[in-house]
Amino acid sequence: MRKELTFLGIETSCDETAAAIVKEKRNGAKEIISNIVSSQVNVHKKFGGVVPELAARAHIEKIEFIIKKAIHKGNIDINSLDGIAATAGPGLVVCLTVGLNIGKAIAASLNKPFVAVNHLEGHALSPRINKKINFPYLLLLISGGHTQFLKVSGINNYKRLGTTIDDALGEAFDKTAKLIGIEFPGGPKLEQWAKKGDKNYFKLPKPILKRGGCNLSFAGLKTAVLHVSKNFKNYKEKYHLAASFQKTINDILYEKTKVAMNEFKKDSSENTFVIAGGVASNESIRKNLIKLSKEQNFTAIFPPINLCSDNAAMIAWAGIERYKMKLTNDFKFPLKARWPLDASAPFLKGAGVKF
Ligand code: KG4
Ligand code: ZN
Repeated sequence: MRKELTFLGIETSCDETAAAIVKEKRNGAKEIISNIVSSQVNVHKKFGGVVPELAARAHIEKIEFIIKKAIHKGNIDINSLDGIAATAGPGLVVCLTVGLNIGKAIAASLNKPFVAVNHLEGHALSPRINKKINFPYLLLLISGGHTQFLKVSGINNYKRLGTTIDDALGEAFDKTAKLIGIEFPGGPKLEQWAKKGDKNYFKLPKPILKRGGCNLSFAGLKTAVLHVSKNFKNYKEKYHLAASFQKTINDILYEKTKVAMNEFKKDSSENTFVIAGGVASNESIRKNLIKLSKEQNFTAIFPPINLCSDNAAMIAWAGIERYKMKLTNDFKFPLKARWPLDASAPFLKGAGVKF
C-alpha cells in the first residue's frame, strides 16, 4: 500500500492570494482538506485591470493569514505535512516572489521537501484531483494569460499542439468587456450580459479559422469589437455585442478543437479532452465543447468551477504528483516569469507570426 501524502500549496502568481492543503490517501483517494482563496478584485477594480505593484503589496499583507487559515481550517499539524509546493512561474515577478519565498521558508524551517510548481501544470493536472484520468489526454488551457492545446503524456511531459499567436482567451474576454463598459473583472460578467443579447446581431471576424492548424488568434476580433463599441445605437446593443462576441469565440473554439482532436488522435488511442483554466468556468463554452466532444467520440472533462480559476489546491496537487515522481527542488530554484510547459515549442507571438 502507498504512503498517505499531505501537501501545503501556495499560489500568488497574479491577483489571487491562495493556500490549500490536499491529501492523497493510502487507497489513492484525494481530498481537498482546505482551499482558501483571497481575491483582490476590490484592489484592482478602479484601475480596470491588475496593477502588479498593488497586487504584490496585497499578497504580502495577506499571505501569512491565508496560509494559517488553510492550516487551521484543515485542522493540520504543520509538522505532519509531507511537503510544500509553491507556484514559481509563469506570472508577475513581484507577485510570484511572495509565495515562492514564503513556501521555501516554510519548507526550510520544517525541514520538508519543496516543490516549485509551474502554474500551468497546476491547471493541467487539476481535474485529476476529482477524477481518475489516464495519460495521455488532450488539454485546452484557457486562462487570463494563456490559451493552448497540449497533449499531456504525463507529469512534466507536454507537447504543445497549438497556441494563441496574440491575446489569451481570458484577456480577449476582459478587453471586450472593458470596451462594452462592463466593470473589472470582465470575463464572468460578460457571460451574464451575453444572456440578455442576440448572439446573431453582430457578425464578427474569426481570425485564422481555416488555417494555422489549431493555433488561434483573437486580435482581429478585438479590433472589430472596438469598432462596434464606438458606434452603439442604444444600450441593448451592448448586450448584443456581448452575446455575439461569446458566440464567435464558441465558433472558433469548436473549429479549432476539432483540428486539435485530429492532431491528438494521430498518435494516441485515448479520447479524453480536459478543459482547464479560468475561462473553463464559462457555461456556454462548456456546453459547446461537450457537444463537440460527443460528436468526435471524446469525453470532455472540466474541473469543478472553484478549481478552474486560480487556486492553491491545484498547486498542492501538482506538488504531490511531482513529489511522487521524485521531482522535488532545492531552495535555489529561480522564479520564472516565462515558463512554457513545452519548452521545445517555438515562440509564436507577435507581428512576425503569419499563417
Ligand atoms: O485561470 P485564471 O483564474 O487566471 C489565470 O491564470 O490567468 O483565469 C482568469 C481569466 C480572466 O481573464 C477571467 O476574465 C476569465 O478567466 N474568466 C472567464 C469566466 N470566468 C473567468 N471568462 C469568460 N467567462 C467566464 N465565466
Ligand atoms: Zn491560472
